[in-house]
Amino acid sequence: MCKVLKEKFINFFGSVPYITAAAPGRLEILGNHTDYNEGYVLSAATDLETLVAVMPVEGNVCRLHSFDSNSTAEFDLNTLEKPKPGCWSSYIKGVVYELSKIDNTKIHAFNAGVISSIPLSAGMSSSAALEISAGYALGEMFGIDITKEAWAKLGQRVENNYMGLNSGLLDQFSSVFGEKNKLIFSDFRDVKVVKKIKIPEDYVFVVANTTVKHNLVDSDYNDRRQSCEAAVAGISKKYSEVQALRDVSTSMLKNCREILNVMDYRKAMHVVGENERVLKGIEYLEKNKINEFGQLMYESHQSSIDNFENSCSELDYYIELSKTVPGCIGARLSGGGFGGISIHLVKKAQAELYSKRLLAGFKLYTGKDKATALICEPGKGAEKIADG
Ligand code: GLA
Repeated sequence: MCKVLKEKFINFFGSVPYITAAAPGRLEILGNHTDYNEGYVLSAATDLETLVAVMPVEGNVCRLHSFDSNSTAEFDLNTLEKPKPGCWSSYIKGVVYELSKIDNTKIHAFNAGVISSIPLSAGMSSSAALEISAGYALGEMFGIDITKEAWAKLGQRVENNYMGLNSGLLDQFSSVFGEKNKLIFSDFRDVKVVKKIKIPEDYVFVVANTTVKHNLVDSDYNDRRQSCEAAVAGISKKYSEVQALRDVSTSMLKNCREILNVMDYRKAMHVVGENERVLKGIEYLEKNKINEFGQLMYESHQSSIDNFENSCSELDYYIELSKTVPGCIGARLSGGGFGGISIHLVKKAQAELYSKRLLAGFKLYTGKDKATALICEPGKGAEKIADG
């Protein structure tokens, strides 16, 4: 993909890029909406990625071109603080804005070209991949040297402060710390990768898209976060040591049933259950109990339906179908929810046929004939590709 971008960049901008960087999207495997509750997540970088190539130019105007949508955007370095809602280029502008706030950084104008194999607005974190790839490429050009964790946090600030989505750190974290064939077990209280765990070689993830638009900026994501905070405020009246839902067990939560609003209680039940499922899931993977792990994926999805209310009928249909098509041992929604993708843990040898059957059933039932299913394996983390 890098060679393709280099050629397109030369044709469009008339020069060789100074540097290119690549960043993957992510799959959330277990641990839904736990990251901003200081909890645990098991995720993976996708083997699909976004590439950004950059070249310094004279003046104040930055020109960006997406070779996928064939759209060009421009912005002036003097108007960095103003995002253009709904426009892909705002993510890069947001990165430049955040970079400009780092001490002693001298920002200058540039041309940037973008290509990506990550489906947009589908729940695979195409926006985090764009933030991180742009950050890595621009950082190299501006001489900024910060840690992977700091890059992830910079990407999160773009979402939180610039785009107005109060999201956690999971997407950017998975994009920078991804490793081929491994799942990443992260602890978002200590903000660190605890360990990386292999999934058995004979299994892959089938990622099936609902085509229901997943646009978190417009969704109930921020509301869900508020519910979690309200639950913590209530629970801490009974258990003063509780600072986040991470500190709460199912039995503690049940003891607070009477003092919490029913909606907040159910949202908290999901998050508390997810934290417990991640820990159990790791134990299962380490003991090679892959079927039990798959069962946790189903439980997670059921909790999204019953408690967190972040599923939708198309996602639920995928999950029901997965139980009837041979090859799958677990499936759930992945990411924010409210549409987007479902992930299915499937025997590698059966994955092709499984995907075809799953899609055929889905299209027949929903009439959504643009739905797609990809076979994904955990991919590597973000990187700079020095020779442009
Ligand atoms: C989105 C957010 C993440 C995380 C997930 C849900 O992907 O960007 O921070 O909260 O939803 O787990």
